[in-house]
Amino acid sequence: MSKLSLDRILQSQGFGTRKYCRALIEDGEVSIAGEVQTSYKTSLETDGLVLDVFGEQWVVREHVYIALHKPANFECSRKPSHHPGVLTLLPEQFTWRDVQPVGRLDHDTTGMLLMSDDGPFIHAQSSPKRHIPKIYQATTADPVTPELVAQLLSGVQLHDEPAPLAAQRCVQLGERQLEIVLEQGKYHQVKRMLAAAGNHCAALHRAAIGGLTLDSLGLAEGEWCYLEKEQLALLVPAEAQP
Ligand code: URA
Repeated sequence: MSKLSLDRILQSQGFGTRKYCRALIEDGEVSIAGEVQTSYKTSLETDGLVLDVFGEQWVVREHVYIALHKPANFECSRKPSHHPGVLTLLPEQFTWRDVQPVGRLDHDTTGMLLMSDDGPFIHAQSSPKRHIPKIYQATTADPVTPELVAQLLSGVQLHDEPAPLAAQRCVQLGERQLEIVLEQGKYHQVKRMLAAAGNHCAALHRAAIGGLTLDSLGLAEGEWCYLEKEQLALLVPAEAQP
C-alpha cells in the first residue's frame, strides 16, 4: 500500500463516506497508538497501520480475505429475497468495502464460504481453469450404495450440461453420508448430481476448499476469520499455483 490521508484510509476500510469519515476524526473517535487524531489530512503509511475507531482496534488491510462458516438459512445473493444475506454475519464495514462471496452456497448448505473485496482473487478462485477441489459432505435421503458412488465417479448427465459431470473423488462415509469432491461449481451441482444418480440430497456441508479445511479454522457456525498468506496458499492445489 502507500501513503494516504486519514479520511481516505478510513473510507477504504469501509467506515463510510469521506464526509462521514472526516466527521469521525473531528469528533475524536479515531486514535493511533493511543493518540487521538484531530486532522483528517494527516498523511500516513498504510502498511502495518493499526487504527483505533470507537475504541476498537482496526488493522488496516488493502484487501480482506475471509472464511465464514455459513449456517443454513442465509443467502449468498447480494439481494437476498427469502433469508438474510451472509453479509449480515460480518461487520458492516465489509458491506461498505464491497466484500462479496466467492461463488455461492445454497441457502440450506452449511460450511466454508470464502469472501473478499479483491476482484482478481474472486475471479481466480472461481475460475474452472484452476481446478480447485471443493470438498462436500452430503447426507442422502436414501442409503448410499456402491452403484451410486460408482455413478458419481464415472459421471452423470445433467439437464443443460453438454457432457456428463463426474466427481473428482467420492467416498461413502456412512449409511446415508458421502464425501464428494468437485472441481466445477455448477448451479446446485451436488444436489443435481445426486438426483441424476437416483438419490436425493437431504443436507449439504462444504468441509474444505483446496487444502484448507473448515475444521482447521475452528469456526463455529456463523463465525468468520481473516485468512492470512499461509492459509490462502492452501486454497489452490500446488500444481495450480503460479
Ligand atoms: N452443490 C449444491 O448443490 N449446492 C451447494 O450449495 C453447493 C454445491
